[in-house]
Amino acid sequence: MVKMDLLKVVRVTSGYGTLTVLNQVSCEVADKSLVAIVGSNGAGKTTLLNTISGILHPYSGKIYFKGKEINGMPPHEIARLGISHVPEGRRIFPNLSVLENLKMGAYLARENMKNGMLKKVFEMFPILKERKNQPARTLSGGEAQMLAIARGLMRGPSLLMLDEPSLGLAPKVVASVYETIEAIKKNGVSILLVEQNVRYALEIADKAYVLENGKIVMQGRGRDLLKNKNIKKHYLSLK
Ligand SMILES: Nc1ncnc2c1ncn2[C@@H]1O[C@H](COP(=O)(O)OP(=O)(O)O)[C@@H](O)[C@H]1O
Ligand SMILES: [Mg+2]
Repeated sequence: MVKMDLLKVVRVTSGYGTLTVLNQVSCEVADKSLVAIVGSNGAGKTTLLNTISGILHPYSGKIYFKGKEINGMPPHEIARLGISHVPEGRRIFPNLSVLENLKMGAYLARENMKNGMLKKVFEMFPILKERKNQPARTLSGGEAQMLAIARGLMRGPSLLMLDEPSLGLAPKVVASVYETIEAIKKNGVSILLVEQNVRYALEIADKAYVLENGKIVMQGRGRDLLKNKNIKKHYLSLK
């Protein structure tokens, strides 16, 4: 069965003022799938997520979500259509409690609070339930990443975009964050993940793209790319 494209990015060129970062980038996220975009530091991964979520507007190209053209829309409208963006570096509110951080995720979406989203999120992240009244600054790095992801889920998005969820985490902690990401996908949420941590991302990706200097240079099934000679050499430090 061919899955419908939930997100479709078509030849998008984007950047900051006169600095063009993304050059004719095209990629798709099929409904209920997990897509990874991998690339080194500075490749343009964050710029791509910021362009999809409306923080940046593309210079040219189109972005479709659920078949609707979203390029040029303000971020809050794009969020309302069902895209949640978990930014690089987590950006949780350190002095608010875990529970307050989660409620911030649902703001403008009070329906989701009523619909038991908090209960679902606590089922998925029992550690956050245990710590719901603690200030977020007391969480470990892994727990803080879980909180950032959980906050992104509070609106009940159909697409969750994660910017470097493994950044700064110990390998064991990365493994548990990735288990959580797979569990979210099993719950029917599509995921667009960008990562420098190529190995983990490719292992779980249904489809993956390699971004270099603002251009997609390779694409395929995650596991196939893991076996690719160039990927092994340049991204996995293997001969
Ligand atoms: N706010 C900004 N203003 C100007 N240039 C930026 C800004 N943010 C990122 N850049 C530049 O855009 C390029 C891509 O950055 P980024 O998308 O953050 O890459 P990645 O997330 O893959 O590490 C880099 O050359 C970076 O210096
Ligand atoms: Mg980045």
